[in-house]
Amino acid sequence: MSDMNILNGKNVVLGITGSIAAYKAADLVSRLKKLGANVNVIMTENSTRLINPITLQTLSSNYVATGMFDEVKSWEIEHISLASRADVFVIAPATANVIGKIANGIADDLLTTTVMATKAPVIIAPAMNVNMFENKITQENINKLKSFGYRFIEPATGVLACGVYGKGKLADVDDILNGIIETLTVVQTKDLSGMHLIVTAGPTQEPIDPVRYITNRSSGKMGYALAERAHMRGADVLLISGPTSLNAISGVETMNIKTCDEMLQRIIDNFEWADAVIMAAAVADYRPEFVADQKIKKDDEIINLRLVRNPDILEKLGQIKGNKILIGFAAETEDLDDNARKKIIKKNLDMIVANDVTKEGAGFEVDTNIISIIDREGKITRYPLMSKMQAADVILDRIQDIMK
Ligand code: CTP
Repeated sequence: MSDMNILNGKNVVLGITGSIAAYKAADLVSRLKKLGANVNVIMTENSTRLINPITLQTLSSNYVATGMFDEVKSWEIEHISLASRADVFVIAPATANVIGKIANGIADDLLTTTVMATKAPVIIAPAMNVNMFENKITQENINKLKSFGYRFIEPATGVLACGVYGKGKLADVDDILNGIIETLTVVQTKDLSGMHLIVTAGPTQEPIDPVRYITNRSSGKMGYALAERAHMRGADVLLISGPTSLNAISGVETMNIKTCDEMLQRIIDNFEWADAVIMAAAVADYRPEFVADQKIKKDDEIINLRLVRNPDILEKLGQIKGNKILIGFAAETEDLDDNARKKIIKKNLDMIVANDVTKEGAGFEVDTNIISIIDREGKITRYPLMSKMQAADVILDRIQDIMK
């Protein structure tokens, strides 16, 4: 690995709780050490029944703290010093119990008291039975913690220790490591601090009757990636999202809307606050002229659905733009560059992010994108295939350049 010492000098405090996946924490500690981190392990009493503290002590080359009460003498100093020494605090695996405790302010052992006393970013990697994970109480606890800025590494789907198939397996150690590295590197570079950013994401849904609507294949992933990266880089982000299946982003205020009209209204309400608006949403260009009050019955062989134009949100914003920055997206299937240039002028934009949705690896539903950026002067920069997170950073860098 080229970035052998990427975590040099970083203090990682790792909390291990009583899930069967506790044994995987040994691998995590060993990998963190290899990347140069100093690792301090705190184990709950239950976890010590599943993996021996001596294993972790050996791998981390540090004393492993276990319970509060058998270590009364050193505890006070221990928990305060670990809490303040941590550059990042990781709980992996995290049981439903520990998540519930933290979410509700219960600090009754060394791990929960220490995590409550830390100001470091906290990353939680849950591992539990699928029904426990999906339980509304667990989900509510997770969402509550996310809204306070706690970061979660989503559990994987697979055969769980209890023999059931479902979501609840501890995430891959690679994913946990990436989350730690990302948190540590991002925490240092809050280069978008002070920026007020509106990001729209996902499709809109235009109703036909109470049970039917017109929509499109947008997954919302690009918009969510933009909101997440901008937030991580210190911007104040308002995410206005059409219906998606994506998880809420910790620390990002999200307004959920359905129709183009609702999206427009929310943007207008917050436009004065914003320095920049990124329209990553795939807004429906048309909506049914009339919305039936009752479910439409299948009486006739053919029915006609008349569609009327939706307002073009970007065009409206372009007219009241002032010195705000407006970014549009263009999901084209032909004449990508030409069309994008025309849209910049017509909608009074600073920049268009164009992607040819016919290319493999670009466009809807995938985690990658192939983008070109066209600026106000018509200059085009083409970028290679990237993850949507990387593409988000490229776009945010360009916005930052315009603001300079
Ligand atoms: N957009 C918008 N309001 C709409 C439709 C689209 O603000 N009613 C925004 C999208 O969020 C996107 C940009 O306009 O940022 C480009 O959308 P796209 O559908 O690619 O282009 P259109 O302007 O609709 O042009 P065309 O119909 O030629 O594709």
